[in-house]
Amino acid sequence: MPSITTVNLAHLHLLLNHVPTLGSVVALGLLLLALVRRDEPLKHAGLEVLFVIAVLTLPVYMSGVAAHQKLKAQPEISDDAMRVHQDAALAGFAVTEFAGFVAWIALWQSRRRGRAARGLVSAVMLLSVVALALMARAATLGGDIRHPEIRTDLSAGAAAPAGDPERFVTTVISVYMVESPWAWPAAETVHFLGLSLSFGVLLAVNLRILGVMKNVAFADLHRLLPWGMLGFGANLITGMLFFIGQPRQYIDSAPFYWKIVFLMIAGANFLYLTVFKKAWANHIGFDASLADKAMAVSSIVAWLAVLYGGRMLPFIGHAF
Ligand code: HEM
Repeated sequence: MPSITTVNLAHLHLLLNHVPTLGSVVALGLLLLALVRRDEPLKHAGLEVLFVIAVLTLPVYMSGVAAHQKLKAQPEISDDAMRVHQDAALAGFAVTEFAGFVAWIALWQSRRRGRAARGLVSAVMLLSVVALALMARAATLGGDIRHPEIRTDLSAGAAAPAGDPERFVTTVISVYMVESPWAWPAAETVHFLGLSLSFGVLLAVNLRILGVMKNVAFADLHRLLPWGMLGFGANLITGMLFFIGQPRQYIDSAPFYWKIVFLMIAGANFLYLTVFKKAWANHIGFDASLADKAMAVSSIVAWLAVLYGGRMLPFIGHAF
């Protein structure tokens, strides 16, 4: 009997699966319009949308894996078609995350210098075009799984007779993560370092908002944010390696489910701290507003929940 978590995650996939594609179209549209109108706030909006899409693509990917686990026992649905779709989704996911990361750097630069380097914004646009193409392909292959009426040439590989399972990138990664004596421990080590970096930076910045270290201007702590983002990126990569390595031990696990929810809140907090005017205006000695303080508390709580959820995976989840 599948648990409620699995059922909901599979539903979530059907609910969210067009977000990466449609979101990239919206972000690209805003960036193009900003370029034509030479409109800086519009450019920021486009970059912010890209960052939000990168965060939202995480549950899209993970809920897809939950849907796969539920459907793979059904003989009328091709397991190969789902694996071809998963490989395509992984490529789209990787470029979408990278585009979101570069968009965030551009926003961070804009906050410090008034505007982002021109080359950076061009790189973001190029990456989001590639992400859009890859996501559109993944979405088409996703539709092909259950809708023979729209099946395209793209899915020809999926319809081919089952062959060596290691022709799928996700299978190769999974086998390597599980069988290599060093891959999992190395990823755990990097995951721990990334977590310390990310939490350390966000704790310092949020404590300043709460009134600790009032003799330090917010702008000085803002310099640290890229280090925090670096830790966040390292954790995203290593976390995905764990997830692709052993998906079954995570998708049906309540602490994992909550960890992802709180991770997304932590991601939103990164964006807030990077771009919002109110936090930026906290000069030396300045007392932040009550709303900002509430946001800082919620961010610290979200991070503690991420740590707790991760640590509890083997105990109240059923990982390892
Ligand atoms: C993050 C990028 C992803 C995107 C944009 C995406 C998009 C889609 C789309 C558009 C559909 C068709 C929904 C429909 O039939 O109405 C779909 C279905 C599906 N996807 Fe994904 N997907 C992604 C990731 C994944 C991953 C990583 C897996 C893991 C294997 C996966 C597994 C599935 C399954 C099993 C279905 C069929 C669900 C059903 O009909 O009940 N998806 N996806």
